[in-house]
This record gives sequence, structure tokens and C-alpha cells, in this order.
Amino acid sequence: MLGRFIVAEGIEGVGKTTQLALMRAYLEQAGCQVVVTREPGGTALGEAIRHLLLGHRHDDMALTTETLLMFAARAEHLEQVIRPALARGDWVLCDRFTEATYAYQGGGRGLSLERIAALETWVQGQLCPDLTLLFDLPVEVGLTRAGKRGPADRFEKEDKEFFERVRAAYLKRASQYPDRYWIVDANQPVEAVWSEVESLLAAMTS
Ligand code: TMP
Repeated sequence: MLGRFIVAEGIEGVGKTTQLALMRAYLEQAGCQVVVTREPGGTALGEAIRHLLLGHRHDDMALTTETLLMFAARAEHLEQVIRPALARGDWVLCDRFTEATYAYQGGGRGLSLERIAALETWVQGQLCPDLTLLFDLPVEVGLTRAGKRGPADRFEKEDKEFFERVRAAYLKRASQYPDRYWIVDANQPVEAVWSEVESLLAAMTS
């Protein structure tokens, strides 16, 4: 069976990482080759760029710089990891991708969506994830969960209003592109979230 490109998105603390690990186990059990990766990151250069983006050394980075660094990491990731994996027929499970740029740099920071779309076309060409799972939950719940994980990174230190805009941007994109997005209610126990995701994977692998 040919692999698919699935992305997990959502604000901080929605439980993407846990669900991606469960998805990997499910697909491997079904005999699929699976690559689990993340953005920004996923390659040595991408992880170095992640460090610049999430660390506090460049807290006042310009929005243009931030956006270009996201896409620079993405270009490397596509070239080194994602395109080769899909060409081999592997499944690619990615923790965030371009929808995060629309939500964070677009919704959160106010960058025009046309700018992001131009970079998307340049860097990705025709390549688009087959499915984006949007793990959705109220901002207060996500931020409380994320706050327990340790010191806040450059995005986590943003205020509640920022994450409300990010969440709203994700939900708007999901309603605009219902054929590419699936909204999962992440405000329920891990097992209940997984049972929703599992049904989706079962349909995709049958
Ligand atoms: P996380 O993957 O550990 O949640 O952290 C990555 C952070 O980077 C998260 O706060 C969202 C942010 N981000 C963007 O702002 N734009 C992007 O395009 C991507 C991929 C991530």
C-alpha cells in the first residue's frame, strides 16, 4: 500500500506527540513503513533552525525572518526526508507543517496569508499533506498542560489572546478546506482521542 502524508496540528498542549506515537504503532502493526518527524526540525539543519526559532537568544526576531526560517527548515525537510520517504512508499507522520505557519505567523502574528501562500508554492510545489489532523481544545486547557512540561519557549511565552488567534485560524482553515482537514476533539481522555484517530487510520488503510 502506498504511503500517505499525515500532519498533526493544534495549539500547545493538545497531545499531538502522544497521538503520533500511537499512530506509528498502529501503522507498523498493519505492515506499513512509517517515518515520524516534526517541524520546525526533522533534519540536522532543520533542528538547528528550530533552536534559533524556539530559543530566547533572538526573542525580537522580525516576523519576516521567523517565517523565512520556518520555510527554510521546511525546504530542507522536504528535500532530505519527506519527498524521499513518500517516493519509497512510506507513510510520513509529521508533527506540524505549513498549516502551522498559516495559524501562527498568519493568525497569531498577522502576516498576510498571500505571503505565506507564495512561500508555500515556492517551497512545496504541488506537494501537500493528504490529511491534516487538527487536535482542537480550549486555549486555557492547552496552555495549562503545556505549562507543566517545563520552561516556556519563544512561542509558549505568548499570551492567551495570541493562542486564541492561532486556534481560530486553524479552525477557519479547517472549515475552508474540509477535504484536507479532520478536526479531533482533544478535550477528552487520551483513549477517546485515540479511538477517533484509530478509526480514521483504519479507513485509510483498508
Ligand atoms: P512544537 O512542535 O514543540 O509544538 O513547537 C513548535 C513551535 O513552533 C510551536 O509553538 C508552533 C511554532 N511553529 C510556527 O510558529 N510556525 C510553523 O510553521 C511551525 C512548523 C511551527
